[in-house]
Amino acid sequence: MNPKKDEPSLEIKLGSLTLKNPVIAASGTFGYGEEYADIFPLRSLGAIVTKGLSLEPCKGNPPPRLAETPAGMLNAIGLENVGLENFLRGKMPFLRKVRCPVLVNIFGRTIEEYAEMARRLTEVEGISGQEVNISCPNLKAGGAIFASDAKSVFQVVTKIRRATSSFMMVKLSPNVADITPIAQAAEEAGADAVSLINTLIGLAIDVRTRAPLLGNITGGLSGPAIKPIGLRMVWQVSQAVRIPVVGMGGIVTAEDALEYMIAGATAVQVGSAFFADPKAGLKIVDGIQDFLKTNEIPNLNSLVGSLKVKTELSG
Ligand SMILES: Cc1cc2nc3c(=O)[nH]c(=O)nc-3n(C[C@H](O)[C@H](O)[C@H](O)COP(=O)(O)O)c2cc1C
Repeated sequence: MNPKKDEPSLEIKLGSLTLKNPVIAASGTFGYGEEYADIFPLRSLGAIVTKGLSLEPCKGNPPPRLAETPAGMLNAIGLENVGLENFLRGKMPFLRKVRCPVLVNIFGRTIEEYAEMARRLTEVEGISGQEVNISCPNLKAGGAIFASDAKSVFQVVTKIRRATSSFMMVKLSPNVADITPIAQAAEEAGADAVSLINTLIGLAIDVRTRAPLLGNITGGLSGPAIKPIGLRMVWQVSQAVRIPVVGMGGIVTAEDALEYMIAGATAVQVGSAFFADPKAGLKIVDGIQDFLKTNEIPNLNSLVGSLKVKTELSG
C-alpha cells in the first residue's frame, strides 16, 4: 500500500512477512525501541529487531565494552540481556504497541536452549518472528562457534525450525572462510531468510599501557569500515540461496542501503548509525523514497540483485 498517492511503493516481502519499507533496526543497537520512541514514530521503520535475548539473564562482559576505531567501533557487550521472562513481562507490553513488526533476536549456549527460546516466543502475541544469532559458542561442542561450521548450523536451525512455525531468519557471522555453505545450510534446514553480516572480530590496543582497550580483549567491529565486506558477502550469499537475504554492515545513508539491495538484499538493517544519529533509519527510508522518485523507479523490488557485472573479467 502506498502511504501517499504517486509515491513509489517501498513495500517488500520477507517470507510470510510484509514490511512497509525495507529498513529494519539492527539487534543490539536499538535496545527494545523505548529510547527511540520519543525521537521518531517507530512505525516508520520496516521492522525492529530487539537486543539479543537468552533464556536466562546475561551479565555480559567486563568494561570497557566499547572502543572507537577509524570509520567504525568495536564492541564487546557480551550479549548482556534481561532474559526471556523479564523480556516478556517488562518489554513486550511496550513492543506490542509499536505498530511495526517486531523480530526478537535470540541466542543460546546449546541447541536445546535455542529451540526452547524459539518455542516459547512463538506463542507470544506481538512478535512477528525471530532472528537467530548463531555467532555463539556451542558449549556442548567445546565452545566452537555454531556459525562457523555448516554442519552445526544445519543442526541448530533444524531444531529451531521444528520448535517454531513463525518467521525465522538466521543471522550469519562474517568470521568464516566461506559464508556461502553456511547460508545454504541454514536454508536447507528451513530458515525463511538469512541476515548478514554480524560484526567482525577485532582488537584495539592502548600503546602506553600495552593493554587491550576492551575488557574482553577482542570485540566486534561494526560501522562504515565493514560495509565493503558486508556487500561482498550479501552478493555471494544472494547468488547461493533462494530465500531472501537481509543485508547489513556500515549502512549510514540511503545510498548505502541501495548498494546492499543492488548486491542482492531484499531488506537492510541499520545498526551503529543509530548511535551517531538516532533518526538515521528514518532518513534512510526517506532517502530511498527520494531516489526512486528522482530516478523514476516504480518498484523497489526491481533493484534487488540488479548488480551489473561484466561476464568477461579481464586478467
Ligand atoms: C553495541 C552493539 C551490540 C550488538 N548486539 C547484537 C546482538 O545482541 N545480537 C546480534 O545478533 N547482533 C548484535 N550486534 C550486531 C549488529 O546487529 C550488526 O550486525 C552489526 O553492528 C553490523 O551493522 P552496523 O555496521 O550497521 O552496526 C550488535 C552491534 C553493536 C554495535
